[in-house]
Amino acid sequence: MNDHSTAAVASPPYLPFARPQIDDGMVAAVAETLRSPWIASGPQVAAFEKALSGYVGGRPVRTLTSATGAMEVALAVLGVGAGDEVVTPAQSFFATANVIERAGARTVFVDVDLATRNIDLDAAAAAVTPRTRVLLPVHFNAPLDPDALAAFRARHGVRIVEDAALAIGSRAGGRPVGATGDLVSFSFHPNKNMTTIEGGALVVNDETEAAAVSRHRFHGISRLPDGTRDVVVAGGKFNLSDVSARLGLAQLEKLDAWCVARARLATHYFACLEGDDLLTADRLPPRANPGHSWNMFTVLLPLDEIAMTRRQFMEALQREGIGTGLSYEAIHLASFWRARGWSEGQFPVAERIGRETVTLPLFPSMTSADVERVCEAARRAVRSRPA
Ligand SMILES: Cc1ncc(COP(=O)(O)O)c(C=O)c1O
Repeated sequence: MNDHSTAAVASPPYLPFARPQIDDGMVAAVAETLRSPWIASGPQVAAFEKALSGYVGGRPVRTLTSATGAMEVALAVLGVGAGDEVVTPAQSFFATANVIERAGARTVFVDVDLATRNIDLDAAAAAVTPRTRVLLPVHFNAPLDPDALAAFRARHGVRIVEDAALAIGSRAGGRPVGATGDLVSFSFHPNKNMTTIEGGALVVNDETEAAAVSRHRFHGISRLPDGTRDVVVAGGKFNLSDVSARLGLAQLEKLDAWCVARARLATHYFACLEGDDLLTADRLPPRANPGHSWNMFTVLLPLDEIAMTRRQFMEALQREGIGTGLSYEAIHLASFWRARGWSEGQFPVAERIGRETVTLPLFPSMTSADVERVCEAARRAVRSRPA
């Protein structure tokens, strides 16, 4: 057999849109925890919470099984329930609004700003009523401005639960997200900048609030002096395991370096797409975005100018071995919310983002060549006719 006839051109490896970074040291650390006497919540959880607290400048932190759980617990700790309103952006992951409904409160959606893709704080101010208890903004792209949030809180007398699920490692006003503000919730899902597989954390103001979070995440149980237990609130079950916490501890050590790698790759995306007449600068994320930890690189597809749908664009990249994501649909247009009276046309920016957005691959172990490969495939796709 002739070598030349069998030499297939190797196709490049599949590039997912997100990939957790788990090295041998992390696997060994987790294995050690698995062999230890504690695998549920124990010393690793305590150590991880201490390390996270250090990372966010010393405020108390409690870990939970997800950011969704963290936000549910945050609203419970604030006593949000029936008759209360919570103002939140119409463009985020569904969890942001679901937790409000699950608390029994009313979700009040407002639009987002096209440049930052974050909540429009003027629209939020206009939506405040005497029933508004909480503002629940999302660090979607550019980190939320801590001064603007503090001013909002002081002016409207509301509490603020920051959905920072996408923002671990981001900095705002020169300090880590979580170092300032009221209650701040992070996610450690595998698509985030660091992972505990599933997991989340809530940063709170003081030890009294931290104790309330501890109760709400574990059945509402508190210990009596005689060693027996009491239940003071019907809490849930949201405590992280030591196995997850050990992974989180090892991940946290790498977080800042990974964020630097993400920022470098994002810069390369901008350079590669520079000057494209279809994927124009206003369709890319905000570029001057200091402190952003670049969990995602999302673009708005020019669907009116190209001969394909978003689905066809995503399939075209998939055929080239490139995964993409959809982050996120406009929440108020999902059936649950339509049934509650929300409808098309109420939040034009959120709806446009929901219609056009697509998430390109971005994770720290990607190379510049990977970015170039994605950009070439994206440019080709928007210029092609669907198969
Ligand atoms: C903005 C936002 N909020 C909340 C969540 C929920 O995070 P978790 O999966 O940790 O509950 C996500 C997850 O992707 C998210 O993107």
